[in-house]
Amino acid sequence: MRKEAHHPPENVSYRPWNRRDIPELARLARELYAYIESIDPVWRTSPGAEEHLRVHLTDLFTTRHAMSYIACDREEIVGFITGSITQRPPVILPHRDGLVDNAYVTPRWRKQGIGTLLCRMMLAWFAEQGVEEVRIHYQVSNQDACRFWERFGFRPWTIQGHFRLPGKNEPET
Ligand SMILES: CC(C)(COP(=O)(O)OP(=O)(O)OC[C@H]1O[C@@H](n2cnc3c(N)ncnc32)[C@H](O)[C@@H]1OP(=O)(O)O)[C@@H](O)C(=O)NCCC(=O)NCCS
Repeated sequence: MRKEAHHPPENVSYRPWNRRDIPELARLARELYAYIESIDPVWRTSPGAEEHLRVHLTDLFTTRHAMSYIACDREEIVGFITGSITQRPPVILPHRDGLVDNAYVTPRWRKQGIGTLLCRMMLAWFAEQGVEEVRIHYQVSNQDACRFWERFGFRPWTIQGHFRLPGKNEPET
């Protein structure tokens, strides 16, 4: 587990999500995708991404196998984390595990301990659900994220390779 964070801002409150949060969470998740796109040339976001994210979050909300925790400055959402419980192929143990779906803190509120508190809440929820293992996908180019997750004890585990096939008019290397 990571070392104790500094003191997070006292005026920020934390709560589980509700259905009314979904449009704003989709907007923030779109910002998260744009951020990843800005540091990772492989990651490209499709037109209409915000609507797709809204649908995805609504699906998660209705399954009951998912949770999101939200950090608010008064009414404004300044950060959130979403996670779900996934069933894995029967050949693999454990049969179910936790998957952190999205984690995002708006730029002005970063590096003040908000992400740490959100992550702790998410991990506590997984533990309450009887989940023993948790996964998260993060880009190797996202160095802040690598440091953040690895401080909690997450370790790089599988490698997802990426290769762009040469176009018809491009020379093969
Ligand atoms: C990754 C992310 C969610 C972390 O949220 P955060 O609120 O900034 O996280 P914390 O403040 O708890 O911790 C971040 C760092 O600030 C430090 N910190 C915490 N409180 C601090 C304070 N009061 N003063 C100075 N530093 C502080 C932490 O020790 C930590 O250090 P590190 O950079 O060495 O890891 C956030 O940076 C983010 O949204 N990034 C862009 C999107 C993204 O990459 N999301 C993850 C996708 S997998």
